[in-house]
Amino acid sequence: MPNTYHIVLLPGDGIGPEVVRETRITLEALAPLYDLTFDFTNYPIGGNAIDETGSPLPDDTLAACQQADAILLGAVGGPKWADPTKSVQPEQGLLKLRKALGLYANLRPVRIFPQLTAASPLRPEILQGVDLLVVRELTGGLYFGPRQEGGEEAYDTLIYTRPEVERVVRVAARAARQRRGKLTSVDKANVLASSRLWRQTVTRLMAEAFPDVTLEHVLVDAMTMHLIRRPADFDVIVSGNMFGDIITDEAAMLAGSMGMLPSASLGDGARGLYEPIHGSAPDIAGQGVANPLATILSAAMMLRHSLGEEDAARAIESAVARALDAGYRTPDLAGVAEPDQTVEVVGTEAMGEIVRSYLAGESG
Ligand code: IPM
Ligand code: MG
Repeated sequence: MPNTYHIVLLPGDGIGPEVVRETRITLEALAPLYDLTFDFTNYPIGGNAIDETGSPLPDDTLAACQQADAILLGAVGGPKWADPTKSVQPEQGLLKLRKALGLYANLRPVRIFPQLTAASPLRPEILQGVDLLVVRELTGGLYFGPRQEGGEEAYDTLIYTRPEVERVVRVAARAARQRRGKLTSVDKANVLASSRLWRQTVTRLMAEAFPDVTLEHVLVDAMTMHLIRRPADFDVIVSGNMFGDIITDEAAMLAGSMGMLPSASLGDGARGLYEPIHGSAPDIAGQGVANPLATILSAAMMLRHSLGEEDAARAIESAVARALDAGYRTPDLAGVAEPDQTVEVVGTEAMGEIVRSYLAGESG
C-alpha cells in the first residue's frame, strides 16, 4: 500500500503560483516511480489572502497546515500590498505561519552546480568546492521581539533565550556531524548582549554535546566578507534570524541565481515548510519565465526531511542536474554558458517538463 502524503500548497503571490504549479506536476510525475501518493490542497497566503479575506494567514490556511505532512510555499508579497503605512502586510502571513508551526530551524543549503559557475559574479576558482549549509534561527530574534511604530520613534527588540539558541544549534551541529564536521556560529558579540548569550550558549553546548564537531565563532560583518572571499572553507553556518536572512541572500549569489536555492523550515516533529529562498519577483510574474528549480529542489528537501523518501529526493536533484547538464536555462541563468557549452533558454513550464523527462531517465 503506497503511503498517502498530505501536502498543503501555498502558491502565494507573484511568480509563486507558477513555480509551485511546476513543482506539483513534478511531484505527480515522480509519485508512480516511487510508489508514493500525494494529496494536494491549495490555500491562500500573503497578498492574495489579504485580498480574499483581509488576513495574510487566514484561519483555514493555518488549520490545514497544522494537519499536513508538509507544506510547499511559493512566495509572498508584491508592490500592490507594499504600502508601509498599512498595518497588514503579506510577509506577516509567512512569519506567523513559521511561528505557529514552531519551525525554528531554517535550512538553506548552498550547492554550486558546476554547470552554473559562470552565472556567479565570483571567479570560478573561488567557487571550487563550495558546499555549505546555513541554519538560520527562524522564530525568534529581531523578527519577533516587542516593537513599536507609528510616532516619531520606532523600535524592534532582539531577544534570544538560552533554550532557543540551544535547539537551533543542535540542529546545525547534527547536520555538521553528517557532513564535514565543522560549525561556524555567526553573531555580533562585540556589540550585542543577545549575541554574547548566543556565543556562550553555543560554546557550552558544543563542548558538552558535540566535542567531535569543530567550532568557530565569526562576527557577522566579517562573515559577509569571508563568504565571498573563501566560501569553500565553510561547512555548516548557524546564525540568528536577521543575520541569517542577510547572509543567505549573499550566499545565493555563489550559486549564480536566487532562482536556484531551496529551503526547509523545521521544528521538533517531521512536519516542515518548504520554500525557495527567492521572493515573488513581481517584475516577471505571469510571464512564464520564472525559474522553477528552487521550488522543485525545495520539494526534494520535503521528500527528504518530512517524508523520509530519500531516493525520491535524490531523483529530483539528479534530474535538475541533468537538465542543467543538457544546457537548459531559464532567463535568469541565460547568457552565462561555460565556454564549451551551448545553452537553450526555456520558460518555467518547459523547464519543469525537462526536469520531469529526466526523472524516469527516459531522455538520457
Ligand atoms: C526570507 C524572506 C522573508 C524573511 C520575508 C519574505 C519575510 O526574506 O525567507 O528570507 O525575511 O524571512
Ligand atoms: Mg530573505
